[in-house]
Amino acid sequence: MTRRILLIISGGIAAYKALELIRELKRRGIASRCILTEAAKQFVTPMSVAALSGEKVYDDLFSLTDETEMGHIELSRSADLVVVAPATANIMAKAAHGLCDDMASTALLATDKPVLMAPAMNVRMWEHAATQANLATLKGRGVHFVGPDEGDMACGEFGPGRLAEPVVIAGAIEALLPA
Ligand SMILES: Cc1cc2nc3c(=O)[nH]c(=O)nc-3n(C[C@H](O)[C@H](O)[C@H](O)COP(=O)(O)O)c2cc1C
Repeated sequence: MTRRILLIISGGIAAYKALELIRELKRRGIASRCILTEAAKQFVTPMSVAALSGEKVYDDLFSLTDETEMGHIELSRSADLVVVAPATANIMAKAAHGLCDDMASTALLATDKPVLMAPAMNVRMWEHAATQANLATLKGRGVHFVGPDEGDMACGEFGPGRLAEPVVIAGAIEALLPA
């Protein structure tokens, strides 16, 4: 049976690296069904994600067609693992507090599957007490994390907050999936 993840792409500058992640997973025989947040669509197009994953892309919680074909609850459980890459400060905060006002955050709250997050954000956002508290809350609930890495950032600053390399995220995913 094909191993499958639900990949939530949230709206950070590193969202384009999710495309490389989808390809890397495909090489390893892992299929990705994807959800894009509204902000993610500013950084990658649903068309690129659909073309690379070879699957329909989900973004609208209130889509009549999607809800009749595969409802948000079913979608949240249609994979062996839920992966958020990149994970914004916003989606971490929403998940930590149980907010669910779009398809991505609702799927995260509705899932009964393990969750892996790959955070990516500006170093100040990452080091902010609010983000660190949300990280601790999520870890305390058993959410897995990969990265962030330390290095030069797209915004010109340096520090922790870079998205882990797609190949490293793929390794973390494989380690969490059933063999
Ligand atoms: C150019 C640009 C780059 C951004 N990069 C990031 C980022 O890397 N990480 C992050 O947490 N937020 C980033 N943001 C802010 C998010 O897009 C914003 O918080 C948004 O509400 C996130 O929504 P989402 O979590 O639903 O995708 C960026 C915003 C802009 C305009």
